[in-house]
Amino acid sequence: MDLEIGLLGCGTVGAGVVSLVRRRAGKVADMTGSRPVVKTILVRNLDKNRGVTFEHERLTTRPDDILRDEDIQIVIETIGGIEPAKTYILEALRNGKHVVTANKDLIAVHGPEILRVAEENHVSVLFEAAVGGAIPLVGPLKENLTANEVTDLKGIINGTTNFILSEMTSRHIDFEEALAMAQELGYAESDPSSDVDGLDAARKLVILSSIAFQTEVHLTDIRIEGIRHVRAKDVRYADELGYVIKLLAVGRDHGGELTLAVRPTLIPKVHPLAHVSDAYNALYVRGDAAGDLMFFGRGAGSMPTASAVVGDVISLVRNLKLGYVASSPNGTLTAKPVVDRED
Ligand code: NDP
Ligand code: HSE
Repeated sequence: MDLEIGLLGCGTVGAGVVSLVRRRAGKVADMTGSRPVVKTILVRNLDKNRGVTFEHERLTTRPDDILRDEDIQIVIETIGGIEPAKTYILEALRNGKHVVTANKDLIAVHGPEILRVAEENHVSVLFEAAVGGAIPLVGPLKENLTANEVTDLKGIINGTTNFILSEMTSRHIDFEEALAMAQELGYAESDPSSDVDGLDAARKLVILSSIAFQTEVHLTDIRIEGIRHVRAKDVRYADELGYVIKLLAVGRDHGGELTLAVRPTLIPKVHPLAHVSDAYNALYVRGDAAGDLMFFGRGAGSMPTASAVVGDVISLVRNLKLGYVASSPNGTLTAKPVVDRED
């Protein structure tokens, strides 16, 4: 039996999703009895070349072709930004559709509202791709590590800035040239200032720390500094002194008080994070039972991100078979105080 999917947006991530759903459909059908099929795709420009050939998938510019199609059970959102993505997601949920999204801008700010509407309508919202591209981070924090008090999150969670800093270090090119390459490779956001000014990493830190520390975290809780002012000579001096510069996101729970920051940081070359190059991401997590864990992998790009999106779709297909709806990852949260502390 076909399980029909509507895809909102078909750019870098959406095009990867179309290819990967097709590639995995047979296997999923063998596992679950349901074959996921992308039925309809919403775009702005019907004539654009998307680097993927469409077979049975129909392109449309009318959101209702997806949101009001009663046969579509899962909606994948890869438009990005707040509007119209938020309106479309809320309408999909109210129409009884499960949603998978890669949209950290939206989840970081409106996640609680979206999860509440999902719960009210007995459907799920999954967003593994919103943080860390291909690396499973949301799932492990939400499920596998819940036996722990998580006290520390520390890592590189923006691929574009890591790519830029890595290229400036290894090939001695300047900031602007490295940014243009990151945009060409599809790593950067449509407005790359959110990458270079640290906002993208901060949004991801909101999502990760809300789940890991079981609390409400807001963007305004995070001290944010980007890499726009990092020049080739800073990278060179750091290199001469035995360091690399990385944009680090740090979240720490000091017994109920949080410190949260995103900023360029000098890392000794012998530290494992110093070796995270290109658009790779890495995250250290410390749990009181698990000890230290490190997650590493491709944090951006078409197929790595599609891997996380389609993984969420396959979880949904499995859950639908079992008649199970994933609950909100946050439940009822008590806010923890955020303090401005250096350590
Ligand atoms: P793109 O800009 O490449 O693609 C956006 C798509 O959305 C395009 O197909 C565009 O249509 C469509 N779109 C934009 N506005 C509208 C609208 N108003 N109505 C209908 N369609 C619209 O973005 P990405 O694929 O790079 O990113 C998508 C999401 O995934 C974002 O939330 C991003 O943060 C997230 N993400 C991206 C990663 C990456 O490596 N790129 C990694 C992890 C997450 P058209 O093509 O016709 O213009
Ligand atoms: N622009 C983002 C990054 C995409 O560079 O990390 C992945 O979330």
